[in-house]
Formats: sequence, structure tokens, C-alpha cells
Amino acid sequence: MIYVKSQSDIERMRESGRLTRDTLDLIGSKIRPGMTTKEIDRIAYEFITSCGATPSFLGYNGYPASVCVSIDDTVVHGIPSEDIIIREGQIVSVDCGVLYNGWQGDAARTFCVGNVSEEKRKLVKVTEECFFKAIENLRDGSPLGDIGYYVQTHAESNGFSVVRALVGHGIGRDMHEDPSVPNYGRKGTGIRLKKGMAIAIEPMINAGDYRVKFMSDGWTCKTIDQKPSAHYENTVVITDNGVEILTL
Ligand code: MF3
Ligand code: CO
Repeated sequence: MIYVKSQSDIERMRESGRLTRDTLDLIGSKIRPGMTTKEIDRIAYEFITSCGATPSFLGYNGYPASVCVSIDDTVVHGIPSEDIIIREGQIVSVDCGVLYNGWQGDAARTFCVGNVSEEKRKLVKVTEECFFKAIENLRDGSPLGDIGYYVQTHAESNGFSVVRALVGHGIGRDMHEDPSVPNYGRKGTGIRLKKGMAIAIEPMINAGDYRVKFMSDGWTCKTIDQKPSAHYENTVVITDNGVEILTL
């Protein structure tokens, strides 16, 4: 069941969205070679709680941290660890959820650390572009399948592939609500989005093959071919004539 948000709901989602964005901006300003992924997690936890908000990932289905930190061939859901050191040349995806006043925000960025190869830089750029292509023509009445169509078309026309095993989602009082928002699909298909629906659009794009595997920790998701992967996510709400991005 898809919950349509009222203006006052959306006002509150703006606040959790803003805190999610601020957390990722703060991490982007601090991320350096030599840091552990656990340090990234500590920065997020300290900031979110200092704002009177809750890191929504912490404890979600037993997830043990406030953010996911996923390096290079890790697609998503990398668990922060004192043993994982961020190195120059890596691409580091950070995914963050914030619960504030009963409403969720969810967003992800992929950061380039130091000097990063041309291929990885292009992957990060194209992944961000996939999100913006997806929302370019999105508005009240748009078919949900258009999102996946635009993401997939842009990724594949650049020689990259779209992860199928994980998808975007509705968001509101819960982090994951209906509908599912795949990053692949056909134009003109699926339910029609309506003004007031809130969704997290989150392209996960691989440099090589789309297939992924889950590691024995039950979370960490990696590419099978060990090529790099990037992730970019924002929470958006559908308006009359477009979308409002709540986490940018
Ligand atoms: N941000 C992820 C998503 O969009 C959720 C991460 S899973 C968690 O679905 F366990 F870390 F919360
Ligand atoms: Co999400």
C-alpha cells in the first residue's frame, strides 16, 4: 500500500531529508585516505544524534552501524569496520538514513578519494547522472517504470550495467514502503506516481557485469566480476509539475 503524504508530512520529511544530506556533506568534507570505515560511521552517529535524530540503519534487521560504507567492488551495505582502511584511488559509497520526528530520510553518495582512475570517475559521474535523468520528466501521473527506463538507458549507453538484486523504494514513516523502484524497466509501464508520493531513487551501477553476491556477514554486497560499482540516492516527493528532492 502506497501512502500519499500531506503538505505537513512533506514539511517534516524535508527536515529528516535535510539532516540526511547534512550528514553526507559532513562525511564528504572529512573523508581521507588512512581513515577507517568505522571512523566514517562514528562521524555519522555523532552528528545525527547531536541533532536529536536517530540513525535509522542502526539495528534495522540487525544491521550493526549507522551508515553503509562500500568501497570499489562493494556495491552496497558494506559494514563499517576498524579493519577497513580507506585508500587513495578508491571510490567510497556512503549510504545514510535519518529518522527525525517520526519521518525518514535516505540518501547515498559515492566519493572519489584522492586520485581516482578515469574509469571509476566516469562510473561515479554516470551513476549521479542516472538519478537526474530519472527525475527529469517525473511528475504527477508518471509511470513508475519510466524511472528504471531512464536509469538503465543512461547506464548502458555508457557501457555500464544496472544492479537488479536491489531496488529503490517508497519512504515515509518507514524507511522502506511501497512501491519498489527498480533501476531497470520499460517506459510507460507500472503504476502511475501521484502528487505526494515519496520515493528513494537509488541507482546502483556496475562498471562490468550486473551480477552481485552477498558475503557471509549477510550484508556486504559485491560485484561478482570484482569490478567497481557506484551508488547515488536521494529521497524525492512527487509534485504537480515535477519532483522535490529532499536530500540534496
Ligand atoms: N539505504 C538502504 C536502502 O536504501 C538501506 C540500508 S540497509 C540497512 O534500502 F540495514 F543498512 F539499513
Ligand atoms: Co534507500
